Amino acid sequence: MFRREAGDLVKGSMLAMAIHAMIDFAGDRSGSFRMIECEIQSHDAYGTPRKLFGEFFGVIAQTVREILGNDWSPEVDEAWRKLLRELDSLVTRAES
Ligand code: HEM
Repeated sequence: MFRREAGDLVKGSMLAMAIHAMIDFAGDRSGSFRMIECEIQSHDAYGTPRKLFGEFFGVIAQTVREILGNDWSPEVDEAWRKLLRELDSLVTRAES
């Protein structure tokens, strides 16, 4: 889907910013979480369907789960489920 850069730099930076925004959204909500709504709108212009945001957050959660292995406790699982639900609702509510 990436057009402007053939390499992984934009993708890596996008992933880092997405994780940063998710952590802020799950915690202090001090500012960088607002990037999610901004990027939903800018990605409309790239032709990125909004439903891919939820799938992207889900893939990040699944990857963290694989990395944590046995440290993925029921509490961690419930916290991630809650976060993914809240992110879904943020995406649904985002203005066009
Ligand atoms: C919180 C989630 C996301 C963040 C923070 C984010 C951030 C970014 C940023 C900063 C860029 C560089 C261009 C710009 O400044 O707008 C970018 C480009 C891009 N993103 Fe995302 N992104 C997110 C989610 C997604 C998702 C879910 C997809 C699709 C599965 C996606 C696909 C793309 C593509 C295809 C480009 C490059 C567009 C082009 O090459 O013209 N992004 N993203």
